[in-house]
Amino acid sequence: MGVGGCLVVPWRCLVVLCLRLLFLVPAGVPVRSGDATFPKAMDNVTVRQGESATLRCTVDERVTRVAWLNRSTILYAGNDKWSIDNRVVIVSNTNTQYSIRIHNVDVYDEGPYTCSVQTDNHPKTSRVHLIVQVPPQIINISSDITVNEGSSVTLMCLAFGRPEPTVTWRHVSGKGGGFVSEDEYLEISGITRDQSGEYECSAVNDVAAPDIRRVKVTVNYPPYISNAKNTGVSVGQKGILRCEASAVPLAEFQWFKEETRLANGLDGVRIENKGRMSTLTFFNVSEKDYGNYTCVATNKLGNTNASIILYGPGAVHDGSNAASRAMACLWLSGTLLAHFLIKF
Ligand SMILES: *[C@@H]1O[C@H](CO)[C@@H](O)[C@H](O)[C@H]1NC(C)=O
Ligand SMILES: *[C@@H]1O[C@H](CO)[C@@H](O)[C@H](O)[C@H]1NC(C)=O
Ligand SMILES: *[C@@H]1O[C@H](CO)[C@@H](O)[C@H](O)[C@H]1NC(C)=O
Ligand SMILES: *[C@@H]1O[C@H](CO)[C@@H](O)[C@H](O)[C@H]1NC(C)=O
Ligand SMILES: *[C@@H]1O[C@H](CO)[C@@H](O)[C@H](O)[C@H]1NC(C)=O
Ligand SMILES: *[C@@H]1O[C@H](CO)[C@@H](O)[C@H](O)[C@H]1NC(C)=O
Repeated sequence: MGVGGCLVVPWRCLVVLCLRLLFLVPAGVPVRSGDATFPKAMDNVTVRQGESATLRCTVDERVTRVAWLNRSTILYAGNDKWSIDNRVVIVSNTNTQYSIRIHNVDVYDEGPYTCSVQTDNHPKTSRVHLIVQVPPQIINISSDITVNEGSSVTLMCLAFGRPEPTVTWRHVSGKGGGFVSEDEYLEISGITRDQSGEYECSAVNDVAAPDIRRVKVTVNYPPYISNAKNTGVSVGQKGILRCEASAVPLAEFQWFKEETRLANGLDGVRIENKGRMSTLTFFNVSEKDYGNYTCVATNKLGNTNASIILYGPGAVHDGSNAASRAMACLWLSGTLLAHFLIKF
């Protein structure tokens, strides 16, 4: 019974019957070496997802029947299309070549395809593997996060691709900028403020350019006053006290003189906060302004304070550093010189 017999049998029967009765041997039986050179399929076919794949089978005039199979399913038998997939088309069916094409290849098309021919009543097959490549793609990644210093953080970066992409994490805004993880997961226990910033996940395979995405990690920490200097100003001059605090989130500032909190705009002073810096400005310093001021920096993780002394000429202030003492000295001599010049 030949193919002609099969074609009048109902569809379901067809596949079973025809597989058995046709010249086809089960998929998986390799071409025996020493056989005639036909059928000769090409080497494995590698295409990217979305592209077209052409499966070619070289035949000769002795060949009487030809077919292409996907695993054990017939796609084409001669010029007859058996596959219901409209992406599958025949390209050539000549004395020398029997080829089909699969359009818009997807990952599930990957696998063995078999060219089956009958020559002088002998069935022969040859197999080609369709390999589908997919560019790397990050499919799920952690969102930007904010944590308190000392807590543990896990960043996740899941990627897809064929071949399976290699995933790495890099700390972008860190000093080193080196790789921090060669894995989909980046775990940081006891995170420090230096570990805040941008982290970059790269998914790499050799199919196409890497897929790269970034996650921002914000590390909260309590205020730390980095700059608060005693300041010397003479009566009648403008004086500015500065207090600089690093903190995340940014600190809020309060100024005190002894126990009294200073209010903006009152007593001829202005308080200005800009980022990490707070300034207390005296527009016209008077004797009563001299004294011990306290700058308090606060955020939700805590507070800290520093004392800043506003001193006048001749004041014996116990400024904690030699620099401010030297400054006072300079200032004094400068003033004396000025007086001297004015007098004479
Ligand atoms: C090949 O077979 C697989 C598994 O049955 C199927 O998912 C895929 O769509 C088939 N591809 C073609 C081009 O027939
Ligand atoms: C074709 O692909 C299959 C499956 O990936 C593999 O086992 C085989 O060695 C490949 N053959 C050639 C010639 O590359
Ligand atoms: C990403 O992963 C998280 C954690 O496993 C999960 O809750 C979320 O639903 C995933 N999102 C997507 C789009 O798959
Ligand atoms: C500063 O204050 C003194 C005393 O109140 C006053 O005499 C002087 O004019 C003021 N100077 C300025 C620039 O306002
Ligand atoms: C300023 O006041 C603070 C506390 O309010 C105190 O610790 C510090 O010793 C004072 N500095 C001077 C020079 O009196
Ligand atoms: C300044 O800090 C000290 C020690 O932390 C604290 O005892 C004091 O109350 C603070 N002063 C102000 C004005 O917050």
